[in-house]
Amino acid sequence: MVYGHQGLREQTAISRIQEVTSVKQDRFRVTVSVDKERPMSQSPLYHKYDIQKYDLHPNYSFAHLDDLIPKNTPEYLDHGQHYVERIVRALYYFKQCSLIGPSGTGKTHIVYLVAELTGLPIWEVNCGLSTSSFDLIGRFIGLGKENWVDGLLTQWLRKGGIMYLDEANMMKQDVATRLNPVLDTRGHLVLNEKDSEVIERHKYAYMIISMNPATAEFSGTKPLNAAMRRRMAVWINFDFLSVGENISPNEVEMLQKRTKIDKDTAYKIIQAGAELRRQYKAGDLPYGPSLGDLINWATLVYDGSTPLNAAEETIIGLTSDNPEVQADVRRIIEAVFNTQ
Ligand SMILES: Nc1ncnc2c1ncn2[C@@H]1O[C@H](COP(=O)(O)OP(=O)(O)OP(=O)(O)O)[C@@H](O)[C@H]1O
Ligand SMILES: [Mg+2]
Repeated sequence: MVYGHQGLREQTAISRIQEVTSVKQDRFRVTVSVDKERPMSQSPLYHKYDIQKYDLHPNYSFAHLDDLIPKNTPEYLDHGQHYVERIVRALYYFKQCSLIGPSGTGKTHIVYLVAELTGLPIWEVNCGLSTSSFDLIGRFIGLGKENWVDGLLTQWLRKGGIMYLDEANMMKQDVATRLNPVLDTRGHLVLNEKDSEVIERHKYAYMIISMNPATAEFSGTKPLNAAMRRRMAVWINFDFLSVGENISPNEVEMLQKRTKIDKDTAYKIIQAGAELRRQYKAGDLPYGPSLGDLINWATLVYDGSTPLNAAEETIIGLTSDNPEVQADVRRIIEAVFNTQ
């Protein structure tokens, strides 16, 4: 599955590729400007993060792929872990890095933000079991050698930017194996399918992989294969901002800022979310809400629903279809809002 960056809309891989190709052709007919003095990014958040010394494409412009560079990505919050800086630094020195953390801890969000801040186009693949080497590498459509269509990985190798492999540990082994030579220092891909054409890795082609930790609580996850693991120099761990009793004032503030609800309600929503996450991490609930999920809940409260009614339509239904689990979630929320 491939996501558009505006609003993380889902699109099919093929339609995305065709769109990008035509954009590229149109823009090339005009000119591709290279401005040596340009800042790395137009983002208003650019100066919030300490990344100015890591230019990821010196004297090279990705203006021709502007449609693939994310815009208006919201700020990323942490407690002094400097995630954005660490990711950009890892890309600068090693070209690739790995992000690990439970679902909803903002891994996808931060990759989009990093792409926007560094002015890099993003190519995203969600590595489910249905991801085939055709999607990643390419295929012939119809008869004739001219009818080859590059897959996303091949496009990224040729054009540069950030390749984002989400749930990289879920990738099928045959696909993962094809990645190994690409991830070596300079890297290249041999298109066995297409007269063994050798594709060199673009000078500014970076890769970020992400995954949920391979533990019992994340059913279906498996460890990343050793060959790929060995090629990743930097590993960055993510967690929720507030968990259990540990409430992050930054997360409360962010919820208020993004939804305009009052401080007391914002605090309680984060408190309920933190308890749900604690139980999720302990294996007692099937899901722990992300900040995005709590924002959805708070949006309905701001619209006039009571916190409990709004929770029914959002967090409670989201956590599980099972009425018993839903009753557990409801109890936690009622306890926080004192409505038992
Ligand atoms: N630290 C954070 N700062 C700002 N927003 C955050 C943060 N953590 C999570 N979010 C928000 O929570 C939601 C979920 O984040 P995201 O989809 O990036 O999680 P993820 O780690 O990629 O999850 P998954 O493993 O399921 O793919 C998004 O709306 C994101 O903006
Ligand atoms: Mg994600």
